[in-house]
This record gives sequence, structure tokens and C-alpha cells, in this order.
Amino acid sequence: MCDEAFSSIDIVHQCLIDESRTTAFARAIKKLVKKGDIVIDAGTGSGILALFAARAGAKKVIALENDDFVAEITKKIVADNGYEDIIDIKIGDARNFNFGKIKFDLVIMELLTTGMIDEYQLEANNNLHKQKVIKKSTIFIPSRVETFISLVNAQFDLYGFKMKMVKHLWNNLSENQKYDIISNEKALNLIKFNNRNKQIFKSLVSLKPKKNGKVNAILLRSKTYLSKGISLSDTETFNAPVIIPFEDEFVVEKNKNEKIKIQYEFGKGYQTFSTRKK
Ligand SMILES: C[S@@+](CC[C@H](N)C(=O)[O-])C[C@H]1O[C@@H](n2cnc3c(N)ncnc32)[C@H](O)[C@@H]1O
Repeated sequence: MCDEAFSSIDIVHQCLIDESRTTAFARAIKKLVKKGDIVIDAGTGSGILALFAARAGAKKVIALENDDFVAEITKKIVADNGYEDIIDIKIGDARNFNFGKIKFDLVIMELLTTGMIDEYQLEANNNLHKQKVIKKSTIFIPSRVETFISLVNAQFDLYGFKMKMVKHLWNNLSENQKYDIISNEKALNLIKFNNRNKQIFKSLVSLKPKKNGKVNAILLRSKTYLSKGISLSDTETFNAPVIIPFEDEFVVEKNKNEKIKIQYEFGKGYQTFSTRKK
């Protein structure tokens, strides 16, 4: 039994009422689900994306959720809306769930954070490929996520203390999240879900300072592609830009390129390792 039931249902509800996020998924699902499709919605939460798929004509939707408290609520929501014959709520971890012999026409998965530094979308997606439930023709919503990096000087001082930590720059908490962008921005990685992907990401990126200044962190931003013509950058609950501090700050000169080594395991990005290569 989940002992953090209150907080997990709160996050699920916040996602649900984040209209720019949820309606973008609704449009992509309406566009891509075909009558008779077999669909997986991994990390179903409130079940809203599974409901959109059922309404769009899916024959069967496996809606997988690892939080049993959330799953019980979602079962009732599905029944209240008369979709219990189509949407099958299963409790389990999408990273190792055994789907049996089924093949999915369409995969819906919203377990996303910027750069996939936390949440387990990549591992859960790799599990689908490993279990061989994906066909050549399987469609993925989202289909890919692109992440960008720049150098910043971020404010970590709060209430008179130095509070150096990873921060998500949520729109509604933008006060006290001040930062100055020091360099240009470059693409860091592009993850496509129709493939199995490596769990560890490593790169050496060269960034050009736009001014002289001190750098103490990297800034990551992501853009998520749901379907042709429908993409999402940051919304109230989705893809907030993320600041990850360097161990030590350093001084940069305008136009003098800086090489940054970056390495992290998707889903465990709080241990992101980024250093300046001299
Ligand atoms: C960000 S919410 C999104 C909910 C819903 N997909 C939506 O778009 O509104 C992510 C949901 O996935 C569930 N979840 C997270 N990791 C999971 C995992 N490894 N396996 C199954 N469910 C997971 C969480 O409990 C939560 O309900």
C-alpha cells in the first residue's frame, strides 16, 4: 500500500487540470488512435489519457499504474464514465511489468520530466521493447523528447542560507528562482521512443559564453513531440526547465568556448555529473 497517497493523487490531479498539457495530449490521441486499436497507457494516473483513447475508438486500453491508491480511484472514474469494458486498470511498475503476448498499436506514456532526469519514462519504454509488445507500426505519444543545455549563473541563496540543489523552474514558483543565462543554448540529446535507448547518457558539449561572468550551473529545457504539429515545452506541470548546480563555480570569458562533460542515468538525474573540461 502506498503510504504517500495524498501527495501522489495531488500530483495526478495537478496534471489533470493543467489544460495546456492535457488538451495537447487529447488532440494528439484523437488524431492518432484508430478504431479498434489496442493501446497501453503507462503511468495512467487519473486515467485521463486512457479515457481519451477509449473515446477515440480504441478497442482495448491497458492502463498501468504503480500506485495502488491512485489505481483504485481511477477504476471508479473509468466505471463512472462507462468505459470499464474497454479500459483495463492494472497495478504494476511499467519498468518491469510483464504484458504477456499482447501487441500494442499505440503507446501513451506521460512519465516525463525535463531531460528525463527523473521519472522512469525511458526505462518503462525500454521494458516495452524488451517484452516485444511493440510492432513496426506501433505509434508512440509522445514520439520523442529533445533536451537543450546552456550555462547559467543561478541564485541559490534563500533566507540567508546557501541552498545549492537541483531546481525545477515551475511557472507558478518563478519568484526566488532567479538566474542569468551566460552562454548560447545547444541540443544535448534527442530520445526517440520507437527505439530501445541506452540507460546512461554521456556527452561533451561546447558552449559559447555571450558575456564575461561567473557560471555555477547548467540549465536544461525540453521539448516533447506528441504527434506531427503538436509539441509541448514547459507548462504548469510538464517539462519545467531544470537547473543543476556545478560542484564549483567558474569564471568565463565572452566568446571563449567552454567544454562541459555531462553524464547521467535517465530517471536518476539528480546524480547528474557535469564538469568543466579545461
Ligand atoms: C505525471 S503523472 C501523469 C498521469 C497521467 N498519465 C496524465 O497524463 O495525466 C504520472 C503517473 O504515473 C505513475 N507512475 C510513475 N512511475 C510509474 C511506473 N514506473 N510504473 C507505473 N506507473 C508509474 C504515477 O504514480 C502517476 O500516477
